[in-house]
Amino acid sequence: MRRTILSILVMAGLFLSSATALAAGQEVEKLYQRHCTACHGEKGDGDGPAAYLLSPKPRDFTRGVYKFRSTPTGSPPTDQDLLRTLKHGVPGTSMPPWDRLSEKELTDVIKYVKSFSDIFADQGAMEPPIAIKSPPRLTKESVQAGRKVYKEMECNKCHGPRGRGDGPSAAKLTDDWERPIRPYDFTRGPGLMKGGAAPQDIYRTFMTGLDGTPMPSFIDELTEKQRWQLVHYIQSLSPAGTKTTAPESTPTLRAVKASVDPPLDSDDPVWKQSPATVVPLRPLWARDTWVDSVKVQTVIGPKMAAFRFEWRDIRGNDEVIRPRDFRDGIAMQYIPQGKPSDYVGIPFIGMGDDKDVVTIWHWKADWEADMKKGFRDVVQKYGVTMDRMTSPADHTSDRIYLAGLAAANPLSTRQHSTPVEVLAAKGFGTLTSLSATDQTVEGRGVWRNGVWVVVMRQTLDSAPALRQRKILPVAIAAWDGDAGDRNGQKSVSQWMELTIE
Ligand code: HEC
Ligand code: HEC
Repeated sequence: MRRTILSILVMAGLFLSSATALAAGQEVEKLYQRHCTACHGEKGDGDGPAAYLLSPKPRDFTRGVYKFRSTPTGSPPTDQDLLRTLKHGVPGTSMPPWDRLSEKELTDVIKYVKSFSDIFADQGAMEPPIAIKSPPRLTKESVQAGRKVYKEMECNKCHGPRGRGDGPSAAKLTDDWERPIRPYDFTRGPGLMKGGAAPQDIYRTFMTGLDGTPMPSFIDELTEKQRWQLVHYIQSLSPAGTKTTAPESTPTLRAVKASVDPPLDSDDPVWKQSPATVVPLRPLWARDTWVDSVKVQTVIGPKMAAFRFEWRDIRGNDEVIRPRDFRDGIAMQYIPQGKPSDYVGIPFIGMGDDKDVVTIWHWKADWEADMKKGFRDVVQKYGVTMDRMTSPADHTSDRIYLAGLAAANPLSTRQHSTPVEVLAAKGFGTLTSLSATDQTVEGRGVWRNGVWVVVMRQTLDSAPALRQRKILPVAIAAWDGDAGDRNGQKSVSQWMELTIE
């Protein structure tokens, strides 16, 4: 009798512990699905629904080939390596830093990622990490010696004589997945180094190589002294004054209340009251230039909510003259019913679902240019010239601008009554423009001295969540026409919290 009770208890205990293990497994799977599937795919094969938008492609975990390791070529990375990659993200690519996940969540998701490949189960494949000592001091002499090592090792064949990533072999390189790949241009500064930019990181990169890419390991070729000389030379190629940057973290946006409604004029004093948040953006399609950050401000007046965006752009592209030309743009999206904790930290591609509908305000430079052409006559009636209309130095009032827009609409070639398109999405590939009656977001953009400033606003009646909610999930995207951006080719932020006072 006692034995039966005991065995029942033991069995119940076993059942319970496997049930908790199962539940924990499901938790981790959910975590992976929520944060990683869009890019890396449900099966970990790098073929998620967003993968077609991305370059470089997301890693195929089933292959077990990893770039960022402290272990020798061909050996799997350590958990510590994977943790470093997750915390740091892969700069210059769509892979964001996962700073909003807890240490436990990171450890769990790493275990899940490893389960896609047998390479981690094979103890024989595991080689210990290489030892990295603390770096010696950088001197003029060590840099000079490093320059010689760089040439002797033929780093210049790929990375170029001056480290600009333009060596004779550079154009022909492909990765293990047969996709073109470029050697790093060291003059871009340390902030975009994928493997990290601290002296120890650079040392690790060329000692272990980046598996799956033409970047080889030089572990057998260099003395310890030469290795650090090489690190110093690479550091010396970064533009003066650049520091190794800490991993970027997800910022928070703050809206302030104002007693007057915010105007479309981006120079209005109301914007001085509102704190600006610098939001880092990542290119979905890696290239030389992209909109890498946007300054965002939010003001909520008695009847209107407005957002002001400011970003650097060497050339303002507001005209699409030839089919191959692309235009600049900025989009802000929020989830009126969304819980920020479900979203914050996740990149914004492929988001939204049946219950959490995403609302998008997309300002388009070419739409605004079209409209301005259309209201030339109206502007002249007010006695100002088009030049002055587009010059912010002259605070031509919103009244004229808006009157121009209203009057111009029937004349406009494209029938836009505002340069802002309002769209909605309920998950990946469901983006749709709202009906004409719901196109109620106003906007105005000004480009001067290599900077775009755009204000978008809407009445609180049309955007009740901005009045009612204290906190909302918000994300930003930007298009740089010069860089060929269009549609899905853009740079994006992660979801952030917008807190409303
Ligand atoms: C927006 C797309 C995107 C999302 C979401 C994303 N990744 Fe990535 N990830 C990438 C891309 C792109 C690369 C390849 C970068 C490269 O090769 O330079 C990458 C690479 C990696 C690597 C490879 C590092 C190496 O050493 O080769 C790991 C590990 C990784 N991601 C883990 C994750 C995990 C875990 C998640 C979810 C928590 C995640 N990623 C979410 C795009 C994404
Ligand atoms: C056969 C061509 C080739 C040679 C030779 C080569 N590299 Fe590379 N290197 C690459 C490629 C390609 C990448 C980019 C990999 C990527 O983006 O995933 C790279 C990346 C790097 C990075 C990483 C930058 C980052 O994003 O973290 C460092 C550091 C580096 N190389 C140093 C060197 C040094 C030092 C030498 C000579 C000792 C050298 N490389 C020789 C092709 C080469």
